[in-house]
Amino acid sequence: MRRSSRSSRLIRLLLLLAVAPLDTSAQAFLNERQLLGLRLYNQSCRVCHTKPQVTSAQYAPVLSRASLSGNNDALRAYVENGSAKMPGFKYHYQPYEIDAIVAYLKTLPAPE
Ligand code: HEC
Repeated sequence: MRRSSRSSRLIRLLLLLAVAPLDTSAQAFLNERQLLGLRLYNQSCRVCHTKPQVTSAQYAPVLSRASLSGNNDALRAYVENGSAKMPGFKYHYQPYEIDAIVAYLKTLPAPE
């Protein structure tokens, strides 16, 4: 029991290290709320919304400050309720956590 939880913690740490370098340039400029949002994004959104590698397809649209016309209320509602193809997170995250995710999305430049 104890051993398996230690190794799953190790696996999570290794996953975090594998993902973290991608964001180091942005991290230096994020405030605490945006950083929380980044962490939650990595946990719950990246799997669908960020292209895992050059050769693999991306499941869901790229997110940025321009998603849903940059409307905070619309973003919050979307993350809470999800869609036919996306799970909602209102039972998974507290409102302040969803706000943090939205704050993080607002730091992402809009694609050209
Ligand atoms: C299981 C995959 C999956 C996960 C996990 C997921 N999404 Fe999505 N999301 C989608 C898909 C697919 C769409 C496109 C809408 C559709 O087709 O229903 C979408 C659409 C969106 C949109 C609207 C984008 C637009 O331009 O219309 C937002 C905002 C969004 N997701 C935010 C998030 C956030 C924030 C998280 C994490 C808390 C998240 N999603 C987790 C699959 C996912």
